[in-house]
Amino acid sequence: MANQAARPAEPFYWGAATSSHQVEGGNKNDWTEWEHANSARLATEAARRHAKAPTRIPDYIIGRYPNPLQVENYISGRACDHYKRFREDFDLAKKLGHNAHRFSLEWSRIEPEEGKFNEKEIEHYREVIRALRERGIEPFVTLWHWTLPTWVRDQGGWENQKTIADFERYARKASSAFGDAVRFWIPINEPTAYAGHAYLVGAFPPQVKSYRRSNRVLRHLIMAHRRAYALIHAARGDAARVGSAHNLHWHVPYRGWSPLDRLGTALLNYIRDIRPLGLIRDAEDFIGVNYYFRDHVAVVPWGGRFGMLDIKNPDRDVSDLGWDIAPEGIYHALKRIASGAKPIYITENGIADARDHKRAAFIRDHILWIKKAIAEGVPVRGYFHWSLLDNFEWDKGFWPRFGLVEVDYRTLERTPRPSALRYRALIEQEIDSLRI
Ligand code: FCB
Repeated sequence: MANQAARPAEPFYWGAATSSHQVEGGNKNDWTEWEHANSARLATEAARRHAKAPTRIPDYIIGRYPNPLQVENYISGRACDHYKRFREDFDLAKKLGHNAHRFSLEWSRIEPEEGKFNEKEIEHYREVIRALRERGIEPFVTLWHWTLPTWVRDQGGWENQKTIADFERYARKASSAFGDAVRFWIPINEPTAYAGHAYLVGAFPPQVKSYRRSNRVLRHLIMAHRRAYALIHAARGDAARVGSAHNLHWHVPYRGWSPLDRLGTALLNYIRDIRPLGLIRDAEDFIGVNYYFRDHVAVVPWGGRFGMLDIKNPDRDVSDLGWDIAPEGIYHALKRIASGAKPIYITENGIADARDHKRAAFIRDHILWIKKAIAEGVPVRGYFHWSLLDNFEWDKGFWPRFGLVEVDYRTLERTPRPSALRYRALIEQEIDSLRI
C-alpha cells in the first residue's frame, strides 16, 4: 500500500513511433536482401500505378527525390541514418514536446547468427535508451517490427515453429540487457498486418499467398507474444508493462443496404480484430492500437466464388497513399475493444502527406475522437504519432512521407514540419487535462 501511495501519477504519454529497419540504415536482414531482388519490379509497378486512379501516385510526389519510379526509392540503404543520428533526433522529439518514444530493436543486429549475440549492438541500444531517458522521454520498446535475421528467414521464418523458441531466447536477452531501463514492452508489431501482407496478399517477403500459411504465421506470432509476456514478467515482475500493437480497422459496408457487404464487414471484423485480440487478451498489461484508415468492404462475385474487396474511394479525403482519412474510426475501434480497465495506448496513427497540408488537422481530429472515447470511459493513456521522421515505408520505399520531421534524403537534413509544431501546441494544451 505504502508503495502504491508513493507511486507518482502516470502521465499521459505523447510522442511518436519509428521502427528499426525504417529509420536506422545499414541493416542486413531479410528485407535488405529482398529489396535488392525486387526494387526494379517495384519501380515498374509504380509506373503502372501512377498512370491510373485510384492508386495514382500524386504528381507532386513524382518530382521529388527519391522518385517512386526509380529503383533507388526501394532500397533502404542508409535510410534516415538514425542509427548514428539518434541523439539529434531525440533532441528534436524533446523540442517537439514529446515525453515518450516508441522504437524497435533490430533482431538481426542483436543476434546476427543463431545463438550468438553481438554485445556491441546491445551496447548501441543501451545508448539509445539512455539518450531517451536523459531527455526525459519514456521508451516504449518493440522487440520485433517485421524484419528477420537472414538465418531465421532461411529456416522458414515465422512458419517454422522453431522461430518461436528462437524469438524467446532473443526476448530473454533483450529483457535482461535493457530491462532495468525499460518499463514498456511490445513484443510483436501488428501480427495480423504482417501475416496478411507477407503470407496472404504476398506483397512483403516471402510473398506467399495462402490463407492456411498466413493463419499458421499468425498463430506463431501470437504464441511468441505470449511467451515474451511470460518471460519479461518472470524476469522483471510487475514493474514491466507488456502489451501489443494491433492494427485495427474501421470496417464499413461499401453499400450500406447490402446484406452481403454487411456480412463481409462482420467477417473481417472478426478475422482481423476480434479473434486475434481475444487470443492475446489474457497476456497483455495494455492494449496497443495502430489505427490508420477506414476500409470499405464489398462482397463481389469473383472467379465463381465470392471475393472481398477493400475499396478506397478516391473522391473522399485521402492521404498520398490513397488511404481514407477517417478520424471517427479511431473512436469506433476504441469503443469496440475497450473492456475492463486495461490501459490503451495509441501505438501508431499517421498520414502520408508530403506537402503537410493535412497532417495537423489529421492529428487534431483523431485526438478529438480519442478524447470522446476517454470521456465515455475508455482508458486511453497515450498517443504515438507515426512517425517522428520520414522513413522507409516497406514495399513503397521512401516516397510516402509520414514524418512530423521532414528528411532530405540527399543531405539527411531534418526539418520539423509545421504540423509538428501544431502537435506540440496540442500536447501543451492537453498535457494537464489528460493526466491520469
Ligand atoms: C503500420 C506499420 C508501420 C508503418 C505504418 C505506415 O502498419 O506498423 O511500420 O509502415 O503502417
